[in-house]
Amino acid sequence: MSAQYTLDTSTSRAHPTPAPMKRLTVPQIAARKGGTPIVMLTAYTARMAQLLDPYCDLLLVGDSLGQVIYGLDTTVRVTLDMMIAHGAAVVRGSYHSVVIVDLPFGSYEASPQEAFRSAARVMAETGAAGVKLEGGAAMAETVAFLTARGVPVCGHVGLTPQAVNVLGGYGARGRSAAEHDKIVGDAQAIAAAGAFAIVVEGVVEPLARAITAAVACPTIGIGASPACDGQVLVVDDMLGMFERVPRFVQRFDELATRIDAAAAAYAAAVRERSFPGEAQLYRPA
Ligand code: KIV
Repeated sequence: MSAQYTLDTSTSRAHPTPAPMKRLTVPQIAARKGGTPIVMLTAYTARMAQLLDPYCDLLLVGDSLGQVIYGLDTTVRVTLDMMIAHGAAVVRGSYHSVVIVDLPFGSYEASPQEAFRSAARVMAETGAAGVKLEGGAAMAETVAFLTARGVPVCGHVGLTPQAVNVLGGYGARGRSAAEHDKIVGDAQAIAAAGAFAIVVEGVVEPLARAITAAVACPTIGIGASPACDGQVLVVDDMLGMFERVPRFVQRFDELATRIDAAAAAYAAAVRERSFPGEAQLYRPA
């Protein structure tokens, strides 16, 4: 389903739609348990959303934008306003995928009511179909509260980057029996509370398998083996934009190398005055 889009600057929408198209829905994603693997990528901008949309079931406006877009050291300093600005851009750039937006650290943990206020802003101001939040049993009440009030919630268990200061790093989780059992329990709690899907990040393969078997909703893995109902990657990792390649990432391109070559060619062309050339000139009428 490849498509050529342009951005209509009068409406800021991706035009034209490649075909009469209905966006996928959250219940359709929830029904994919055990079926064709769910394809999810992060997206942070309208143009990237346009390019990814035809191939994805879900686009995640992840708070990884803190590192990827803003050069922050962790996701802890990402704000709700940042998430809303990028969430709106991704919704404008997409037609097909379900768009969900991460609730950032500090915008939902204090109470279900606080989570609802943040999620309602995200949904009203971006047009996204739902939110993702990190945490297990401690977040179950919040997941139930949001779901009962019209906010679809994707959970996120295992390695939860917003908790990096508690976890002490980004190492894979679930190597001890106690941690294995705790994370399975976390996933079960938020699934029972109504999560429509659960991202499982950075866990050993047997734990990913156990979580996927233990919950009725689809699991979407990142660094969690093929034992999940779908996969997600940070798009810039997948495209080869960074030198550091986490073990769980497969690079499907080497974009940083290609951008480097393009920038070098541009700089050389400017310095030797071969750019702009004849083709780029405005001529008097
Ligand atoms: O913020 C993000 O990009 C995420 C993915 C790693 C799942 O939560």
